Amino acid sequence: MCGIVGYVGHREVTDFLVEGLHRLEYRGYDSAGVAVMQPDGLIAVRKKAGRVEALAGALESQPAGGSVGIGHTRWATHGPANDINAHPHVGGQGEVVLVHNGVIENYSQLRAQLQGLGYVFKSATDTEVVAHLVAHHLEEQVKLGGTIDDNKTYLRAVEASLRKLKGTYGLAILFRERPDMIIAARNGSPLVVGVGDNEHYIASDPSPLVGYTDQVVFLADHEIAVLTADRLDLRHRDTGRLSPSVQTLNQVSTEIEKGDFEHYMLKEIFEQPQTIENAMRGRFDEDEATAKFGGLNLTPQQLRRIDRIVLTACGTSWHAALVGEYLIEEFARVPVEVEYASELRYRNPPLSDRTAVFAITQSGETADTLAAMRECKRKGLPSLAICNTVGSTIAREADGGVYLHAGPEIGVASTKAFTSQVTVLALLALYFGRMRHLSFQAGKRLIGHLKAMPEVVSRTLECHESVKEVAQRYHEATNFLYLGRLYNFPVALEGALKLKEISYIHAEGYPAAEMKHGPIALIDEHTPSVFVVPRSGVYDKVISNMEEIRARKGPIIAIACEEDDNVAALADHVITVPSVDDYLQPIVTSIPLQLLAYEIALLRGCNVDRPRNLAKSVTVE
Ligand code: F6R
Repeated sequence: MCGIVGYVGHREVTDFLVEGLHRLEYRGYDSAGVAVMQPDGLIAVRKKAGRVEALAGALESQPAGGSVGIGHTRWATHGPANDINAHPHVGGQGEVVLVHNGVIENYSQLRAQLQGLGYVFKSATDTEVVAHLVAHHLEEQVKLGGTIDDNKTYLRAVEASLRKLKGTYGLAILFRERPDMIIAARNGSPLVVGVGDNEHYIASDPSPLVGYTDQVVFLADHEIAVLTADRLDLRHRDTGRLSPSVQTLNQVSTEIEKGDFEHYMLKEIFEQPQTIENAMRGRFDEDEATAKFGGLNLTPQQLRRIDRIVLTACGTSWHAALVGEYLIEEFARVPVEVEYASELRYRNPPLSDRTAVFAITQSGETADTLAAMRECKRKGLPSLAICNTVGSTIAREADGGVYLHAGPEIGVASTKAFTSQVTVLALLALYFGRMRHLSFQAGKRLIGHLKAMPEVVSRTLECHESVKEVAQRYHEATNFLYLGRLYNFPVALEGALKLKEISYIHAEGYPAAEMKHGPIALIDEHTPSVFVVPRSGVYDKVISNMEEIRARKGPIIAIACEEDDNVAALADHVITVPSVDDYLQPIVTSIPLQLLAYEIALLRGCNVDRPRNLAKSVTVE
């Protein structure tokens, strides 16, 4: 996790660094820091435990002006979140200063070796090892005759250091003797270079660059970039010099601003009519009553041969995958398995050449999802991605896939990505279905239902006021149960996850009928159960499950269709949503649960967009 920024050019660097770190705070917010080249030839380091705001305060009382610098916002892996462990870290006697995103797995051996050579460690981080290692190799290069104004001296020192590292890194490095240069390197943690007018930027993702430049170069693993104001030299560990492939970003700055909303999460929840529309735009083939995709990169023959689909993901994306399993099996009759990416990467499941693997990910950078996809690729399977972030590592490494087009999701709790993922999975179910058994009429019907979803979701959002009342009533509860069946079982899991992550209330999601095999023991008058019970094929069964909770005096909050008297008679509170067919219900029923988590978190005084211990992109194992 962690976010990196850097700049070399003519601007006042701290303004860009602090603004960029704010934009990257979703990647970690345990501490933040910057290092800036000073006119006196030294590198000023300012760092602070806590959020970027705390760093901005420190910079006000102790400014660090300059036009070359690097910055970092941390999600702690090695060593607690305090000022000392905050990045940047200093190597040698201050000749090297760097920031790092990733994990150095062999850091303890390297640390012991460097201590043996006389290097003194101040922090408990794995990163400080890299700083001293680069300083050590720089000294070696100078001893071998390298001069301090030759870029090669620094490049060789960095390359020699990287060869010794096991693990993942995105690095941005400053050298005291070269105040006009930053060296950046990537292996497993994303980095993008921004190309401006006589200036260069570096960042973990393009968001800090928005409003500064739209010309970017995504670094690949084992690439090193040497940045000065007027030059970008790119090298690959194995192949040497590369010519940078510059792409144009089409992100607009309003997409990463909160607008009139108090939080990104609320803004993103309310964007869903639009983001669902975006996920479908241009993807219907009305004449054939099917879906169409530009980027699957498989021939119709290859697609027809697929006899098994594996959906792999983490967290909320994994919940969307569970909905996808039901959708694809129902409409396409192709067997689907849903695998946690963190399990799949180390398992050895039987996979034939007729299996297609889809990695589902908002960020496109989740370390486990990436590793699972690579593992399947290694075994010769077509690897496909359902991804939101254009240009992310997974998007670039997949053989093909489908973008969500949901725009940047900044709130740490995923909301709009979930409903977009479900929408894309419904389109895939239609597509695979029409290649197999699904009739023209059934395809037409599904298209009609999907096209209505943006408007249905707009109406669903009208439940916000009744959600607020429920939140007011239950925000002090310490346990919640979320229950749903079939298509609403993954919704129950997702509702519980949303509540846990932003309000810190313990919550469990269960298939409603499973509740009596254990979780029912938790039920008492202080433990609310949230039933996701729109009218569906299993409606009566869920009503019976509600009776079981009611018999044990458990408070019931129901997410149900309008004018449902059965539910109204059993539940203490009903939040109504529009009625849609079973298979599209997750897109509707997940929305009041997103809002409920949001409102409860607000009432408990939690930081909704930046919940404790979490980060938006989980780029470590
Ligand atoms: C929960 C949440 C996480 C992510 C998970 C996967 O609200 O955001 O559970 O869903 O870390 O992230 P992506 O989809 O970026 O691979």
